[in-house]
Amino acid sequence: MILTQTPEPLLAHWTQSMQRSVLRQMIAVVSRPGILSFAGGLPDPALFPTTDYAAALSHVLATDPKALQYGMPYAPLKRHIVQLMALRGVACTEEQIFLTTGAQQGLDVLARLFLDPGGAVMFEELVYTGAQQVVAPFLPHILPVSTDLAEGMNVDEVAAYLAGGARPSGASPAFIYTIPDAHNPLGVSMSQARRERLVELALAYNVPIIEDDPYGLLQYGDWRLEIRDWGESPISNLQSLPLRALNDSHVFYLGSFSKIMAPSLRLGWIVAPEALVAKIGVVKEAADLESSALTQRAVAAYLDAGHLPGHLARLRGEYGRRRDAMLAALYRYFPAAARWTEPQGGMFIWVELPEEMDAAALLETAIAQENIAFIPGHAFTVPGRHIHNCMRLNFSNCSEEMIEDGIKRLAKIINYEL
Ligand SMILES: Cc1ncc(COP(=O)(O)O)c(C=O)c1O
Repeated sequence: MILTQTPEPLLAHWTQSMQRSVLRQMIAVVSRPGILSFAGGLPDPALFPTTDYAAALSHVLATDPKALQYGMPYAPLKRHIVQLMALRGVACTEEQIFLTTGAQQGLDVLARLFLDPGGAVMFEELVYTGAQQVVAPFLPHILPVSTDLAEGMNVDEVAAYLAGGARPSGASPAFIYTIPDAHNPLGVSMSQARRERLVELALAYNVPIIEDDPYGLLQYGDWRLEIRDWGESPISNLQSLPLRALNDSHVFYLGSFSKIMAPSLRLGWIVAPEALVAKIGVVKEAADLESSALTQRAVAAYLDAGHLPGHLARLRGEYGRRRDAMLAALYRYFPAAARWTEPQGGMFIWVELPEEMDAAALLETAIAQENIAFIPGHAFTVPGRHIHNCMRLNFSNCSEEMIEDGIKRLAKIINYEL
């Protein structure tokens, strides 16, 4: 029988609520040539460790016949990650490290491990969009928690949800997701008191925390104090310890080489209780069998050669100066009625404009009149929450001069519209 009309293939139920990533759509629009973009979240390609990584990669290809084969997770890389975690203030063992294809996969694997279809998850109201995408196929109840711009996730709200049986679903959440350091999109780092309380709550109610920490090794100090001397150790003056330093049974830590080396390595890790690592392995295998053996070995060779401390010091110096340049320009040019975060690290500053302003409309004007782009804050809200007057500004991928110039021109439009 010949059908005249070919029917559309049927898609899974959850895809009816699927939206193209608003963020990626926006970034595509605002990444046109000639645009001065504060929109993306990209590291500066001029700071990629290209030469040293090329040497590590060719050394591995020339000397290690297993580099192009299927294989077990590469133990020497796990040993390096244990050392990196120690620099981050976390004691863990090789057996607790699980290698992933980026932190994004780590998040995906953990969501599959904990979340049942229709289950509940606790997110901040403003959340990394990749986390929302990961849980979408489960059609979850999202329990939204506010974040204040000084101290981070509102743990009183976490406590209230948990004490009340985590309504509206009636079930306790499968996990709490948070970015305690240099939050994306907010740029805030959680206070020590809130960290301790959050971990206590997780233990008391037996709820796992997924701690996403891609920016934890990119901390720059207090910009007002102009700390620029890193001393002997490139990461000696990190300001806060991850949640995983407080607890090893309920905190599942996600790390990544994307921001400290390069995103295209697609290499990250989970620190999890050893007893769960085998199960995590089964979940990951379904997705991609394993992370690239070649990349695992090349990154390990790069770390063997001792390049990372110097590289991190360079990144922290450079990104720290760019953060300072953006903050100084905001203070100089933005209206007094605006307020913003002063991030200790990472790549983003969150700006709240006066209530009467609309960030989406402002973006259109900024692109049309000044060729300047940013991401309006509503791109990061969980369903049911709305904001209109906020924006996320990225400072890692522009020079200090471009930042000063761009913020000045953006302020001109804002001040005109006020
Ligand atoms: C908070 C957060 N988590 C996870 C990721 C994904 O990291 P990866 O490149 O390691 O998958 C990003 C990337 O921007 C991020 O900002």
